[in-house]
Amino acid sequence: MSGNSATLRDVYLPMRPNAPEFEALVTGIRAAVDSDADWARTAELVAAQLRRHLPSPDLLAPEQRTGAADSYRSHLLHAEPDGSFSVVALTWRPGQTTPIHDHVTWCVFGVIQGIEHEELFVLDEERGCLVEAGASANPTGEVSGFAPPGDIHRVRNVGDDTAISIHVYGTDVSRIGSSVRREYGLPVLAA
Ligand SMILES: [Fe+2]
Repeated sequence: MSGNSATLRDVYLPMRPNAPEFEALVTGIRAAVDSDADWARTAELVAAQLRRHLPSPDLLAPEQRTGAADSYRSHLLHAEPDGSFSVVALTWRPGQTTPIHDHVTWCVFGVIQGIEHEELFVLDEERGCLVEAGASANPTGEVSGFAPPGDIHRVRNVGDDTAISIHVYGTDVSRIGSSVRREYGLPVLAA
């Protein structure tokens, strides 16, 4: 991967956008989270809000939209004071990828620039390996969400330009350091 893989020890660069469209998104997410639905339903509700209020890349400063040479970058856009959710923008240069990982909470993401490729895996504990469970290409405008368990995945920028995506997590990732529950270094078998 020519040095583009990364561990998920994210550095959250503080940023507080105050664009009205972003405030509308945060208000919508807050209402969805306050509904006290289970994680799967909360992810659906939050995804609906992100589809309705999907930000444009200019939410980030120009120098933030270029990504970084060594790894993808995380920009903290909002941390709810009660810790119930946070919003992060991830920038990825071509070829940059996450390790295979899963999450401590629900997650909703929307691509606002470029194209991100996502691979899904299932843990086979008996054989001590991962089994491929599908893949999707998520172009600009695509929004989807998921809730653990069953969220083992890997994300990669497969386009020719920097990709940017908005991620909403059901916790304050800047407090706990990362949304990641576990990284998987296991062998991967085809389905
Ligand atoms: Fe993830």
